[in-house]
Amino acid sequence: MKTIIEPFRIKSVEPIRITTVEERRELVRRAGYNLFSLHSDDVMIDLLTDSGTSAMSAAQWSGIMSGDESYAGSPSYYRFESAVRELMPFKHVIPTHQGRAAEKILFTIAAGQGMKVPSNTHFDTTRANVEMSGAEAVDLVIPEGKDPANEHPFKGNMDTDALDQLLKSERDRIPIVMLTITNNTGGGQPVSMENIRAVRTVCDRHAVPLFFDACRFAENAYFIKTREKGYAEKSVKEIVQELFSYADGMTMSAKKDALVNIGGWLALNDDTWAEQARNMLILTEGFPTYGGLAGRDLDAIAVGLREIVEEDYLRYRIASMQYLGKALTNMGVPIVKPVGGHAVYIDARSLLPHIPPLQYPGQSLAVGLYEEGGIRACEIGTVMFGRRPDGTEEPAALDLVRLAVPRRVYTQSHVDYVIECIENLYRRKDALPGYRIVEQPRFLRHFTARFEPIG
Ligand code: F0G
Repeated sequence: MKTIIEPFRIKSVEPIRITTVEERRELVRRAGYNLFSLHSDDVMIDLLTDSGTSAMSAAQWSGIMSGDESYAGSPSYYRFESAVRELMPFKHVIPTHQGRAAEKILFTIAAGQGMKVPSNTHFDTTRANVEMSGAEAVDLVIPEGKDPANEHPFKGNMDTDALDQLLKSERDRIPIVMLTITNNTGGGQPVSMENIRAVRTVCDRHAVPLFFDACRFAENAYFIKTREKGYAEKSVKEIVQELFSYADGMTMSAKKDALVNIGGWLALNDDTWAEQARNMLILTEGFPTYGGLAGRDLDAIAVGLREIVEEDYLRYRIASMQYLGKALTNMGVPIVKPVGGHAVYIDARSLLPHIPPLQYPGQSLAVGLYEEGGIRACEIGTVMFGRRPDGTEEPAALDLVRLAVPRRVYTQSHVDYVIECIENLYRRKDALPGYRIVEQPRFLRHFTARFEPIG
């Protein structure tokens, strides 16, 4: 069959409020042309993030009902722990309220002033938590990973020669090596098993622990199954188990590949670090058998982890992303290739060459998409990264717009609608205006800045 269906039926629905172009123009104007400032019920298709936006299954909702809210020793914790350890056999599993809480604890313990933490590419929160500890976050993705047009099948791979060099010269300053799977900042690109093994070998040579930032581990495993020699006949679960056998620990945002709306964990083998982590957890999150979560959340994660490695689900997930990417490519819209696991990234700077980077082509495209069809996407470009600490501006490396697809939420006709809106916008792309910022905070300006169109 060439039609890959959504492998689920819909039991409970959330209505989408249908708005008109005129209403949306007014709503986005009032929001200062910042899509983070919109009320989400004024959004028809929300592709702002795939994080915490999954639809839970009937089995997960049953888990919510049977969650046990005991302060200590809840059976929900033990169900959660055993579901995690079935895939990721780490000795200690420490629940947190989301991924960045696990990062904060890990880098407080492991990093610190004068240290360096290499990764393929750090996600913003990982980088920020490394830097908060006083350490430097170093990105060592392969050169292909920085070129949006390059079709390398594993663009998330780490440059192992560069890692080896860094460890040779500065081993004393490197307490830990990270690997983000899939590499979100690079476009949701996977890391190959071969590369993971090579990174492990380098880490062993220098006796450094290796941790995964593993938010989208199942999507990464499915890419290994379909793209890497020797894995076609293995189950996704087996691939996931092999993948984690090379790591000493992990941080996780369960809001992605655990199919829940909140949650995360830190898992690791080292007893000393685990003890320190639990002590910090008690200070900042909660008792070690619930972390920052309710018992019911732990049960929803336990069920989600069994569902995420189902191959029918992953086949549909990756196919729906490729369906969107292919339609945009056929239309002539430049995107980051190959299409990643959780999002399609449009290269707005190439699409809108009449808008200079300091007039924010990504913002223009994102606002245009909202006005056209009520679609909310996310600018990842000069608005997000272009402000230097001294307040001056420079163009970011790329001006992208991310269409991140929530898990199990939208159907193919929603995606067809997105494609049609982009088609309409494409026809009038030369008329899209540049923007100027009229109000902005000093840090993380993309969340709250106000804009106005130029001309
Ligand atoms: N690591 C990666 C690779 C992520 O993509 C995220 C979140 C985190 C860590 C932090 O997890 O949100 O649970 O604290 N990414 C979201 C996104 C926000 O939209 O890409 P968190």
